[in-house]
Amino acid sequence: MSQVDSLEEVIEKNPQEKHLSDYRPSDYSISTIDLEFDLFDNQTTVKAISQVKRVSAKATPLFLFGESLKLLSVLVDDVDYSDFELIEEGGMLINSLPDSFKLEINTEVDPAKNLAFEGLYKSGEAFCTQCEAEGFRRITYYLDRPDVLAKFSTKVIADKTLYPYLLSNGNQVDQGDLEGGRHFVSWVDPFPKPAYLFALVAGDFDCLKDTYTTKSGREVELALFVDKGNLDKTQHAMLSLKKSMQWDEQRFNLEYDLDIYMIVAVDFFNMGAMENKGLNIFNSKFVLANPQSATDQDYLGIEAVIGHEYFHNWTGNRITCRDWFQLSLKEGLTVFRDQEFSSDLGSRSVNRIANVMTMRDHQFSEDAGPMSHPIRPESVMEMNNFYTLTVYEKGSEVIRMLHTLLGEEKFQQGMQLYVQRHDGQAVTCDDFVAAMQDASAIDLILFKRWYSQSGTPNVFVTDHYNNINNTYQITFKQKTLPTADQAKKLPLHIPIDIELLDNKGNAIELSKGRTTRVLSLTHKEQTFVFQNVKSKPVPCLFRGFSAPVKYQYAYSDEQLLDIMSFASDEFSRWDAGQTLFNKYLVKNVKALQQKEALELPEIFIDGFKSVLVSENLDPALIADMFTFTSENGARELFEYVDIDAIHHARHFMLQEIATQLHELFVDTYLRHHKLKAYQADINDIAERKLKNISLIFIALVDKKLANEYVLAQIDSCNNMTDHLGALTAANIGLLPCRSDVMKAFDDTWYENGLVMDKWFALQASMPCEKVLNNIENLFNHRSFVFNNPNRLRSLVGAFAQNNTYHFHNIDGSGYQFLTEQLIKLNSLNPQVASRLITPLIQFKRLDEVRIQLIKKQLNRLLVLPDLAVDLYEKVTKALAQ
Ligand code: TRP
Ligand code: ZN
Repeated sequence: MSQVDSLEEVIEKNPQEKHLSDYRPSDYSISTIDLEFDLFDNQTTVKAISQVKRVSAKATPLFLFGESLKLLSVLVDDVDYSDFELIEEGGMLINSLPDSFKLEINTEVDPAKNLAFEGLYKSGEAFCTQCEAEGFRRITYYLDRPDVLAKFSTKVIADKTLYPYLLSNGNQVDQGDLEGGRHFVSWVDPFPKPAYLFALVAGDFDCLKDTYTTKSGREVELALFVDKGNLDKTQHAMLSLKKSMQWDEQRFNLEYDLDIYMIVAVDFFNMGAMENKGLNIFNSKFVLANPQSATDQDYLGIEAVIGHEYFHNWTGNRITCRDWFQLSLKEGLTVFRDQEFSSDLGSRSVNRIANVMTMRDHQFSEDAGPMSHPIRPESVMEMNNFYTLTVYEKGSEVIRMLHTLLGEEKFQQGMQLYVQRHDGQAVTCDDFVAAMQDASAIDLILFKRWYSQSGTPNVFVTDHYNNINNTYQITFKQKTLPTADQAKKLPLHIPIDIELLDNKGNAIELSKGRTTRVLSLTHKEQTFVFQNVKSKPVPCLFRGFSAPVKYQYAYSDEQLLDIMSFASDEFSRWDAGQTLFNKYLVKNVKALQQKEALELPEIFIDGFKSVLVSENLDPALIADMFTFTSENGARELFEYVDIDAIHHARHFMLQEIATQLHELFVDTYLRHHKLKAYQADINDIAERKLKNISLIFIALVDKKLANEYVLAQIDSCNNMTDHLGALTAANIGLLPCRSDVMKAFDDTWYENGLVMDKWFALQASMPCEKVLNNIENLFNHRSFVFNNPNRLRSLVGAFAQNNTYHFHNIDGSGYQFLTEQLIKLNSLNPQVASRLITPLIQFKRLDEVRIQLIKKQLNRLLVLPDLAVDLYEKVTKALAQ
């Protein structure tokens, strides 16, 4: 059987795609649902009593979603009911129902065997739930869709010794002891909500309590639940929560609405965290931190994710999505809000740079690959596959463009109008944009194309200076290439934030008292003219990454250096450095392909030298300037991706920079290497970042000195950032001490899975041939747990995602290895499998040898008898390229 035949055959029995255009409101509404859980490891019973009303005129049957459930009984108005059918694809059709009735459904589930971590499952000793996007249907038969909002009450029954804490959404209303050592707690959530926001937790925890007084004077109880023994790692998360609550009041005028806010940290979780009403459930990675076990990045990540989930209380919970195609309504907006939160509390430029790196290193390639979709997708097979960088990060960029076009004041007026109009509703992205347009009186009709068009636009920029009449004219052409999901592309509304530098590096006045301007590119091609420009300016384009596009302008090296030194926007300075690096990366890749000598001119080195010695730049910004385009990000610079040439050219450049600036790196290292009490404060974080980057550059050149520094740093440091910084340098430089310091770390930390994740990720990113062999052995490591998504992402994900060159080994071993893990995971945890497959499906622009090797592996997956729809969707799209 040929490959094509088998692909078509499998597509035959295609799980159906769902389309946005098929949306219809529900025929039934549910006003209340009262749940009762009797918790046991393998046989938990769930009683669900709903008040249901028909809202459609026709007497249609009621379809309820349900998956992996054992049905015990159905009662209508308290009488046993049998006029229903179970539907194989996952649901139940109930016939001959009255207009309004009480529906009781009793089901049984098996939490201990649920390794997909969707629905009700066990994380270690605790019971917990994950219902977004469509997990509630694994708890009971229900109208599991986000536009059906009901008031939930929940009674949880469990063994009292094993599960002293029984938690659910809303406020606790009752509790008591029962026979056989069991007890119960009852909860009522006064806010109607869709089922995906339901949560239940039962377990034995340590608990950190606090309170927050809202700006209108209401006292809210805050509670953070963690595994026993982890109380010393909860302070930062609690502080972050209080900062989030205050920030949302100050910047968005939004206050918390319940009397209690709970966060539970669990070790087994597919994603980062979940915003369940009043009861967030978090991956413990985004809660637990103390200086010894968490890095600066962990501290910042915790603050951002705590903020993100908290901000969902308004943007997601009070106002939710009409259907899952509208996911970016809540996610894009909430990511924008958490990015603003981090920027207001920390360094705006450093945050901006980090977000842009994510876009360029990962979102651009997603948008150019087989899974390309607009931020509001039009068709979906498995919803879990659409919690993507596009929906989240590009979604946030789209909100940010609205913010740029409207300005803070009008944007906030738009937010107020959005809340006023839609509080308590399930709405669409169109509703959001309409509120922004109505509040600001700015026309956003064209802008809305960002919601329906996929792909990264290219903007080509040319200019002309006329020294006789002192005019400067600049022309933008936009072109978006066809993507896998969409052939035809239209012009978009692209905001271009611009500054012009004169020949002394000063910003030219563009309008009275203003040296910057936001141009609106709305056509395929457009020219803007500036008057009274006294000399040929250097254009500083897309300041702050004012649109998620790739742009090209024929900058000379000198012009880029001018921007690096003089642009008023720190992001632009960083971006000019990236552009300069990329320019020589492209040159050197071509040189390698044509067997010519590689080069990095003096002017390049001099430019970066002045960055390194600069006294007035934020050390964190300097560190970012020396964080060059990754091998992943570099692919987007080429039409045909030459894995080997990119690797070698990039390596040559880093080696060259390290060699020529060696003394300065040593000096920088020593200047910022300070022994003092750990504080996760932004200045200290910046210094540690620059110091540890310097150490890496030292390790590329002087192994002996680096070895000394690494050992001394590990010996003297009092925090994980510096410990890991030293290990990273030892790993990248393959220093003599590498295996000893890795072993010592292992011996110290082997019982702490979260800390070992850092160690596994280092092992997986070792720049050396034998890395894959090492990884295979590490599956037997005492700290490795295949079922734990964090462990798996650290070992397998870090290798496939970040160790680009070795993953793409031309012998195909990396592809084969990843595929073997995916085959195992397919039946255990398809959601995690489907996230790990990413580097295996973005192969279209690789060389023919690698393409064939990858296709062979994808075909192995395709013929699996029980291939989960999550992987099915991605594998078929990848093979159809
Ligand atoms: N809504 C969650 C967030 O934004 C995302 C999430 C958590 C999720 N767990 C999930 C999405 C499981 C899909 C499946 O943080
Ligand atoms: Zn979210």
